[in-house]
Amino acid sequence: MDVPRLHPDTIEAVKQRADIVDVVSDHVLLRKRGKDFVGLCPFHDDNSPSFTVSPTKQFYYCFSCGAGGNTVKFLMELGKRSFGEVVLDLARRYQVPVQTLEPAQRQELQRQLSLREQLYEVLVLTARFFEHALRQSQGEAALAYLRSTRGLNEATIQQFQLGYAPAGWQTLYGYLVEQKRYPVELVEQAGLVVPRQEGSGYYDRFRDRLMIPIHDLQGRVIGFGGRAFGDAQPKYLNSPETELFDKGKILFALDQARAAIAKDDRAVVVEGYFDVIALHAVGITNVVASMGTALSVAQVRQLLRYTESKQVILNFDADAAGVKAAERAIGEVAELAYQGEVQLRVLNLPDGKDPDDFLKIHRAADYTALLNQAPLWLDWQIDQVLADADLTQADQFHQATEAVAKLLGRLPNAALRTHYIHYCAERLSQSNPRVAIQLEADLRTQVRGQRWHGRSQKWQTSGDRTLLEESEAQLLRLYLHLPAYRPQIHDALESRDLDFTLPQHRFLWQQILDLPKADTNLMVDLQDAYLDFPDHLSPVQPLFQLDEKTQRDILRAPLVIRAAIACLERVLCDKRCRHFLDLWTQSDPTTAPELLQYYQQQIYREKQRMGEIDRQQRQTTFADLALTPHLTELPSLEDG
Ligand code: UTP
Ligand code: MN
Repeated sequence: MDVPRLHPDTIEAVKQRADIVDVVSDHVLLRKRGKDFVGLCPFHDDNSPSFTVSPTKQFYYCFSCGAGGNTVKFLMELGKRSFGEVVLDLARRYQVPVQTLEPAQRQELQRQLSLREQLYEVLVLTARFFEHALRQSQGEAALAYLRSTRGLNEATIQQFQLGYAPAGWQTLYGYLVEQKRYPVELVEQAGLVVPRQEGSGYYDRFRDRLMIPIHDLQGRVIGFGGRAFGDAQPKYLNSPETELFDKGKILFALDQARAAIAKDDRAVVVEGYFDVIALHAVGITNVVASMGTALSVAQVRQLLRYTESKQVILNFDADAAGVKAAERAIGEVAELAYQGEVQLRVLNLPDGKDPDDFLKIHRAADYTALLNQAPLWLDWQIDQVLADADLTQADQFHQATEAVAKLLGRLPNAALRTHYIHYCAERLSQSNPRVAIQLEADLRTQVRGQRWHGRSQKWQTSGDRTLLEESEAQLLRLYLHLPAYRPQIHDALESRDLDFTLPQHRFLWQQILDLPKADTNLMVDLQDAYLDFPDHLSPVQPLFQLDEKTQRDILRAPLVIRAAIACLERVLCDKRCRHFLDLWTQSDPTTAPELLQYYQQQIYREKQRMGEIDRQQRQTTFADLALTPHLTELPSLEDG
């Protein structure tokens, strides 16, 4: 089969999302041993488990036959398949939108690659320059600051490669451009010098600052944070966004923290560089920082790769701005937490201290003890709402109830919702049982009212659609616009017991099913039905229109329908599989062996079905590939 050339962003995203333990488990029965997993090697005739999978390093290794590599290599070797095929399969499995590469783009990319190499070179040289300056007489005050004011020892200073940017206007410039002969444009692109506003020439961005290099996962320097001494403003000056430095994606010190995150099975996120440094210095090393920006989903996903329990603890400053700041920082991550994809906890240190301050008066063990007690994010939020309210005042009581209903309305899991409604009613009633019963009923009604409302806001903001969302949208769009295919789509969903997962899609589908079967005026009738729910219509409004891209879908409706149904079904199988896997790991083999066997059968069945779907999808021709959602351009056939 011909495989189009994939965009490096797609390959990178697949590598980020595909988890090696997940992938290998499909083919090898793995057992946990320490922080790794072991099993029988699929690459040779193994009779004792010599095959090891490391979630931290994201690779596998066989001690007997020497096979080893990453997730992609595993699947390539196992199935004797090409790189492109494997990446495409993984993209499908992990819901990564696929982008292909046009020849013109390839040249541009080549150029970017060599630019990146040069940027790395300039940055590492700069880090060394700053480290060196710290040890010169000009760096004396900076070094004293690190040792006395910050209380850091030599090992920590070296571990974090801390340095000093001298005070002159062209010190680094002189070194890199005049002495080392790097083109000034390159140094500017690295974010190290700034063009003068008037006249010509450049000056150093970082002057008389304490320099903290920021590394990527491979430990390469990609940017800097520079702290001013005294009251100079801004307190921290960071590298601008560059080809290499994307603040929204990078977590400070993740390169140093990831092994400990895996070992501890949880990650701690703090706000400041020095919070990270101080914690690492006392041996708490599963800590990273988000560098002053709101925590993004991409950042959290990175952390989740290293923890099995998906536990992430946010320890943000709980100062005056308190809750507001933390809530902003949590941002979209809340959505992951609601979906149960991350077990998010929040730690507020006493007296509004940051970790660095806290450790100046407490021991590491005190910090760990607080970490262990950090409440789940939702409990924390409920606490925030209720702690501030004087429930004896009618208006405050009303506000608190409303706020709680809003929080709970976003919980997708009904059982959890019930649990929290009960819990909040209890608290709001201040333990008056008669009031509690009435309140619980009221709250339930309010939460139900919040469910659509709360979600419709999310629909409008989510710009980043997954393959599943796109597939669902395609199915619905084709259903609306192509009456001839309605029975086929309807039957495909019905026979496989598929439903739409996005609430707005599910809602629309329900509206469709509620209308008479042979409705010849479907679109108009639907819009009428929506008049009762104007808020619900807006998120699906685009489905009622066609643009250039979606018109192409119409032309190849059968293929699009097949691919979209396969996508929905695969996600459902995967969900069922995980569900039974959970049950299987939780049940006791001594008391319920037949149950265990039942779960095993179900897991096996779902895996078989997923394999079948993958095989069918792989058979798809090149033309089909162009149709998978998100391939906005038809990939051109090229040399390969
Ligand atoms: P804080 O103001 O909480 O500082 O900023 P801190 O970490 O406690 O700093 P020290 O202890 O006074 O040295 C937290 C983080 O926000 C970003 C930095 O990443 C900082 O570590 N920040 C802060 C900036 O980027 N610019 C600023 O001017 C201030
Ligand atoms: Mn601080």
